[in-house]
Amino acid sequence: MTAVAFRPYLPADAGRCAAIFRDAIEFSAADDYDDDQRAAWAARADDEDGFGAKLAKQLTIVATLEGFVVAFASLEGAEKLDMLYVDPAAGRQGVGASLVDALIRLARARGAKRLTAEASDVSKPLFERLGFSAERRSLVQLDDQWLAHTTMTKALGDDPAPPTRH
Ligand SMILES: CC(C)(COP(=O)(O)OP(=O)(O)OC[C@H]1O[C@@H](n2cnc3c(N)ncnc32)[C@H](O)[C@@H]1OP(=O)(O)O)[C@@H](O)C(=O)NCCC(=O)NCCS
Repeated sequence: MTAVAFRPYLPADAGRCAAIFRDAIEFSAADDYDDDQRAAWAARADDEDGFGAKLAKQLTIVATLEGFVVAFASLEGAEKLDMLYVDPAAGRQGVGASLVDALIRLARARGAKRLTAEASDVSKPLFERLGFSAERRSLVQLDDQWLAHTTMTKALGDDPAPPTRH
């Protein structure tokens, strides 16, 4: 695989990140959430300006392959991993796990003692593989749809994150 590179999110990435968000939900989450649930979830990016402003406000990093943005992830505050979305065309190549690794390091550098994520059913195995533990399962309402997710937490000691495959 071509080496994945990371850089901070820039306002000019908003449109590309919104497209990744929609495609990741439409294709990568199709086994776990039905059409109506995915439509309600993807609609969070309908207001692209608001979507971009949220990414700019958070600590957001993008992953690139040969200079092209293929994924992004964000930290809200020091201890919450908020967004994690990978272009389906770049899926199952370790990009998502590499982004979470990078955010773990950033959170640790910010003094975080733990990292929490509201994991979708599709991302739960990734978080488990990176040492996160499931705390509770709950439902979140988006418009008229209810989507299940799992609160997952990882204690951030001084140990480096587990290595990921590249
Ligand atoms: C979940 C998501 C971020 C994974 O990104 P990815 O780059 O494909 O994941 P990786 O290649 O880094 O996967 C690392 C490991 O996580 C696990 N994993 C990832 N996706 C998985 C899936 N769909 N089913 C089962 N295990 C999965 C596997 O153990 C995988 O290792 P392997 O490929 O050697 O088996 C991506 O599918 C996505 O954007 N999904 C839709 C949006 C979403 O649910 N985001 C999370 C919101 S909290």
